[in-house]
Amino acid sequence: MTRALVLTSSILAGNSLSLAEHFQAQAAGVDGLEVTTRDLVADDLPHLTQPELASWQVPAEQRSAAQRELAARSDGLIEELLAHDVLVLAVPLYNLGIPSQMKAWFDRVMRAGTTFRYTENGPQGLVEGKRAVILAARGGQYAGSEFDSQTPHLKHMFGLMGIREVDVVFAEGLAMGEAQREAALAEARQAIGGLVERLA
Ligand SMILES: Cc1cc2nc3c(=O)[nH]c(=O)nc-3n(C[C@H](O)[C@H](O)[C@H](O)COP(=O)(O)O)c2cc1C
Repeated sequence: MTRALVLTSSILAGNSLSLAEHFQAQAAGVDGLEVTTRDLVADDLPHLTQPELASWQVPAEQRSAAQRELAARSDGLIEELLAHDVLVLAVPLYNLGIPSQMKAWFDRVMRAGTTFRYTENGPQGLVEGKRAVILAARGGQYAGSEFDSQTPHLKHMFGLMGIREVDVVFAEGLAMGEAQREAALAEARQAIGGLVERLA
């Protein structure tokens, strides 16, 4: 059984073009693929702060009640990540970057000493045997150019934790007219269908 964790981060709710929903619908008909979904917008994680960061440094049995509550955010999200085989990130491009809700998730799961560690030779990822899929939806067209500031950033963050197998499905030019939008979505949906079969 392959377990996939789908993370959504669109603020557009009902108006979202939702490549994630397409992934879920395709996966529903496939034996051997189990999907869990986390809506990072609904989670509304706050920015990472010093007290929360500091709570991770305190051994679990020595944490105060407040530190236990703060550390639980990161602990729970890392536990969830480790319990899945594939991370599927549905990522709209917002102001040339990832949604801040998704950054707040990365700030909780990229934890020195837990998901990666610093060594004399640089950082070493501690998350083994996982792969990731990025479902990238954009109003404009950036893939393969220096203006795609989002997917290299996501790959770097995954790479730091040791996740190096990353597939990217682009749906680009979604704000560039009806024809481009329909063509891009059709292509992305087809790619997602192929990926789902390979993942199972
Ligand atoms: C706040 C906001 C910022 C956006 N910034 C960009 C941008 O910088 N570049 C771009 O190509 N599209 C931008 N878009 C368009 C979205 O990337 C596009 O609508 C995408 O389809 C959103 O995915 P979703 O339908 O899953 O929410 C932006 C949309 C919103 C709501």
